[in-house]
Amino acid sequence: MKIHSKLPNVGTTIFTVMSDLATEYNAVNLGQGFPDYEMSGELIALVNEAMKKGFNQYVPMQGYLPLREALSEKIQSLYNTVTDPNTQITITPGGTYAIYTALTTILQPGDEVIIFEPAYDSYVPTVKINGAVPVLIDLEFPGYKIDWNKVRQKISPKTRAIMLNSPHNPTGSVLSANDMHELRSIVKDKNIFICSDEVYEHLVFDGIPHQSILRYPDLLEKSFVCFSFGKVFHCTGWKLGYCVSSPELTKEFRKVHQFNCFSCNSPMQVALAKFLSDKNSYLPLSSFMQKKRDHFIKLMKATKFQLLNSSGSYFICGTYHDISDESDKDFSIRITKEYGVTPIPVSVFYQAGTDNKVVRFCFAKKEETLEAAVERLATIS
Ligand SMILES: Cc1ncc(COP(=O)(O)O)c(C=O)c1O
Repeated sequence: MKIHSKLPNVGTTIFTVMSDLATEYNAVNLGQGFPDYEMSGELIALVNEAMKKGFNQYVPMQGYLPLREALSEKIQSLYNTVTDPNTQITITPGGTYAIYTALTTILQPGDEVIIFEPAYDSYVPTVKINGAVPVLIDLEFPGYKIDWNKVRQKISPKTRAIMLNSPHNPTGSVLSANDMHELRSIVKDKNIFICSDEVYEHLVFDGIPHQSILRYPDLLEKSFVCFSFGKVFHCTGWKLGYCVSSPELTKEFRKVHQFNCFSCNSPMQVALAKFLSDKNSYLPLSSFMQKKRDHFIKLMKATKFQLLNSSGSYFICGTYHDISDESDKDFSIRITKEYGVTPIPVSVFYQAGTDNKVVRFCFAKKEETLEAAVERLATIS
């Protein structure tokens, strides 16, 4: 049997490679983005309760209504935007799935999608699987900000979508109000969609407001805004998220969704509906994660790494110019083997492998995990 691969150049992801290496060398794994601390006991109890109460069969294709209602209330209270839970919110099995479904909903072969690099690894393959063409723009190093003039230059009659991600993986950069202003002026009166990956929604630091598309009703008209419960509630293995869009776009989104997943895990949706009714389930998340970032930054002063700015997400990047001039991949592999700490080389987030000698660390870890990692990193000379 012969298969004509849709993704001929895709191999095993670096996350798998580095995690395998971390296990083999018993290294502290600050590579992959998952918490190693306990999630909320209350949320676990609510899932148990939902299962015991018999919420174990399919919920509607769009998602459990009380959960969509709770999300709509949250959106109104945070962003002052009214959304209809019936026609604008769809529960999905994770953020990545929501992005995949959104892009599959709108893309035709030959369409162009603007993607900023470094980029989360699913965007380019998702565009390609749909026969569309990624148009890549580098974020400005080392601040990882968008140069909107470059965006204007890359817009063509074939541009169908712009992919956004704030807070940003791998760099922790966040979009500003001015970025949103630029975006609005660029897409105004154009048939260009926006797919906004906001899976780190509540994890923005230093009092900076999260610039969600949901703040801007004119942008929401042309956007799919994708979220992840797993990322914000420290349970990445749950793979549950949602997509918010306009009623017209949601209708098309659900046509794709209903023949793929159809309906998501029921007891977790029931539990989340109750959990979200208390604002304390999400309002303290920023300061919780900021403490971890700040602790990591403080510890890292004992090392030769120069950390870059991180204003959100699970991640902070660092350069290692004072240690070595190896490629970021070789360096990451070597410190895993020799020093027992695993980062992710940032070049893997660029299609061209752009190597600014930067590695990414995940600080969504227990204090003792961060301390054990930095104790080892401090011995690198
Ligand atoms: C930017 C970004 N989007 C999406 C995801 C995945 O979210 P989920 O696990 O809900 O699919 C991740 C996970 O690392 C991510 O970093």
